[in-house]
Amino acid sequence: YTITVDPDARGAAIDDTMYGVFFEDLNRAADGGLYAELVQNRSFEYSAADNASYTPLTSWTVGGTAEAVNDSGRLNERNRTYLSLGAGSSVTNAGYNTGIRVEKGKRYDFSVWARAEGGTTLTVGLKDAAGQLATARRVAVKGDWAKYEATFTASRTSSRGRLSVASSSAAALDMVSLFPRDTYKRQPNGLRKDLAEKIEALEPGFLRFPGGCIVNTGSMEDYSEASGWQRKRSYQWKDTVGPVEERATNANFWGYNQSYGLGYYEYFRFAEDIGAMPLPVVPALVTGCGQNRATDDEALLKRHIQDTLDLIEFANGPATSEWGKVRAEMGHPKPFGLTHIGVGNEENLPREFFARFQQFRAAIEAEHPDITVISNSGPDDSGTTFETAWQLNREGEVDMVDEHYYNSPQWFLQNNDRYDSYDRNGPKVFLGEYASQGNAWKNALAEAAFMTGLERNADVVELASYAPLLANEDYVQWSPDMIWFNNHASWGSANYEVQKLFMNNVGDRVVPSRATTTPDVSGPIAGAVGLSTWATSAAYDDVRVTAADGTTLLSDDFSGDAARWTHRGGGSWTVRDGAYVQTDETAENTLVTAGDPAWQNYDLHVRATKKSGK
Ligand code: AHR
Repeated sequence: YTITVDPDARGAAIDDTMYGVFFEDLNRAADGGLYAELVQNRSFEYSAADNASYTPLTSWTVGGTAEAVNDSGRLNERNRTYLSLGAGSSVTNAGYNTGIRVEKGKRYDFSVWARAEGGTTLTVGLKDAAGQLATARRVAVKGDWAKYEATFTASRTSSRGRLSVASSSAAALDMVSLFPRDTYKRQPNGLRKDLAEKIEALEPGFLRFPGGCIVNTGSMEDYSEASGWQRKRSYQWKDTVGPVEERATNANFWGYNQSYGLGYYEYFRFAEDIGAMPLPVVPALVTGCGQNRATDDEALLKRHIQDTLDLIEFANGPATSEWGKVRAEMGHPKPFGLTHIGVGNEENLPREFFARFQQFRAAIEAEHPDITVISNSGPDDSGTTFETAWQLNREGEVDMVDEHYYNSPQWFLQNNDRYDSYDRNGPKVFLGEYASQGNAWKNALAEAAFMTGLERNADVVELASYAPLLANEDYVQWSPDMIWFNNHASWGSANYEVQKLFMNNVGDRVVPSRATTTPDVSGPIAGAVGLSTWATSAAYDDVRVTAADGTTLLSDDFSGDAARWTHRGGGSWTVRDGAYVQTDETAENTLVTAGDPAWQNYDLHVRATKKSGK
């Protein structure tokens, strides 16, 4: 290959924030993942509304008598269920994956809210099948609900630990918690260090949170007596801030319970810690992800719009403002500096969505003209919903539109030029979710090739994030994912390495370049990475690709506009005067994409007969 670069030519400027991460609480990305809490179902709030297999005692085993109680003796209105433990009884928590992970010599902070009118002594133990993992602690409890704490130092390393709490007399317990002292940056209510550091190592330009489908699925009602203590409600940021024991848990769209221990304050704090621009997404009052409903309740819509304005105040307002004060009391008097906000996610009803989006945007822009309000284009990369959404966004002069797509690696190789033709005067693109379907090298390579196309179009594509970010290997609802983990280890995928490569090396400006070889196997540099290749019928009479042993893998004599290329995988390609279109998406053995698992072993020879005079 010859790479031709003109250093004086000026391509698009690339923003430092261009590549970021998309965080969604699915695959146990939050509880059992990034949120460092080691106890599962700490507040006894699991219920069949989250998952048919759940009860308030899921993940707990009882010795003696204990029952989950939902009555007026509760800790507070938003934490409905608590444990009533009989005298001389105990409960033991199994944690996530194989159990609770502790490391020899490290400290672990236990806390519990307890009530025992007559007084009791709690004995708190950390064990695995081989015996004690730390010296047991005793905690004296007396009176109404109060928080009690103790610290363990692990005497052994184990990933199969169990936390048990035994009570000498009758007691009520709630929020039974165990955190490693060594969280990311040693923060209270903090994040799991190895996962947070892997994300930090990407050097992401932005952090999109909290999803995805969890944002705008479920009921849009709030969590209150009036709404019957809704258990399947959209992600509403006010549910997730303030003291953790007052954050009502919720049924997560992905089939489990979310504690909201990792809430909006923690997301903003994490974004700041990793130097990423915070990018929250709020529900638009039109459900997505297969739940296609739009609210006509004006009062509800107004309330959500006001919640969004309050969110901006929470992030940016002075510590004296109503919501800035909440932030300050949580430990961050300084504003977080919010500049972008997404409204809605993958709505299938573009017209209904856009009508409501415009109301959000008008309210936000009236008070905060500097904030970029991001719209979206539905769940696909093309089709009627996508086209309608884009038309509305263009006509409505939206600043930025969120696009999502999950496609084959072949699609990514063939769509390197997707944004070359986007309107330079239209809305900018936030590619909020994309991935080729797999975590193999061929996927990572196809994504890398595609990303060169994003970068070449950095004047249109301002933000891009691979999705999803995290997956606990024992609780997978969606694959592939960028970073994988269990309760004691984490590892980046090949796709992670590609993202890291791009994020760690963001340029200032695109320098236009071309890669060429003889014959005319030319194209943007991405073409070289993905091994895609073409020869034009204008310049050549025929073209043939052979393997080292002389086997013909692809050949074409350009007889006609749409010649067929056959290849050894049995599929076929249609060649249209220099461009190619894959016609058999299912053929795994296509040569010129990374679809063949053995493609990297080919020693390829490309021969073509030049037309005379060319
Ligand atoms: O990233 C996983 C899911 O894919 C997201 O929740 C949703 O927005 C998309 O359909």
